[in-house]
Amino acid sequence: MNAIDKIPNSERYERCVETSRRVRWDIDEDVIRGRRFDPEHKFLPDGLSLAEAFTTLSVEEKRFVSQIQGRTYANIFGLVERFINAKVLELSHDHWFGDQVALEALIRFSDEELKHQALFRRIDAMIGEMLPEGYRFDIDANVVAHAVLGKSTWAVLALTLHIELFTQLHYRQSIEPDAGLSELFKDVFLYHWKEESQHAILDELEWVRHDAGLTPQQRDRAVDEFIELVAAVDGILRTQANADAAYFIASCGRAVGETDARAIEAAFLKAYRWQYIHSGAQHPQFTKVLSLLITEGQGQRIAAALATLQ
Ligand SMILES: [Fe+2]
Ligand SMILES: [Fe+2]
Repeated sequence: MNAIDKIPNSERYERCVETSRRVRWDIDEDVIRGRRFDPEHKFLPDGLSLAEAFTTLSVEEKRFVSQIQGRTYANIFGLVERFINAKVLELSHDHWFGDQVALEALIRFSDEELKHQALFRRIDAMIGEMLPEGYRFDIDANVVAHAVLGKSTWAVLALTLHIELFTQLHYRQSIEPDAGLSELFKDVFLYHWKEESQHAILDELEWVRHDAGLTPQQRDRAVDEFIELVAAVDGILRTQANADAAYFIASCGRAVGETDARAIEAAFLKAYRWQYIHSGAQHPQFTKVLSLLITEGQGQRIAAALATLQ
């Protein structure tokens, strides 16, 4: 047991509120600060874009790939934060006439997620001004949110904790030495991480609180629903990997053969699965909390499902 485990839950909600107040940032004044994206810079670090997996591309083409992935990063976050915010507002209902600090923590969480969606819309538009025409992101955030929220709260919170923890890993990756990385995009990782750190703590508190009210049968069904949600995320990633590979091939200024095209598609999918599935699923805090809530057999079911997404 580490030090943080010994802190009472009421105090953990309070600390989240205090930190949320202290780190609060503004999209224009703190993150963008009048800057624009520079086509000479990479947006995602190599450790996230998996630049090495794009074996047939030149250095300049790999930079273009990182810019496409940066735009998709903004769009994927805009997408997942729609259902995360709706679930947080729904959970806040449990605290209406209870711990008012917990209620404030969730209201701030929701407010921050609305701001993040606005930030990611701005980033998408700013990258759109810089890159060639033809980029597509045709997945509707509201349709996805309705489908996700059709699953049990346990399953949605499992997916949410996993997402909010991987933003921390993405931030750490962005501060690794990586020549040519956009300072503006690095700040997107930095400022997002500052508020997401509290969200991950709140996800865990709410997940464990909600879990305590479930029967073993309900939890067992919820484990299957979590697996279904991860498979649905993978479906979105497949669609976008194909769209981004097609956009790259149409815009890179040279003819790309069929074999190379399939390799580029596969590399995009590998990168997206790393960014949005495996980097969270392997996060030590995620595996720790998950293992406290589920049986060994349920853990094996999840591990077997994740193993099919390689
Ligand atoms: Fe966020
Ligand atoms: Fe968040």
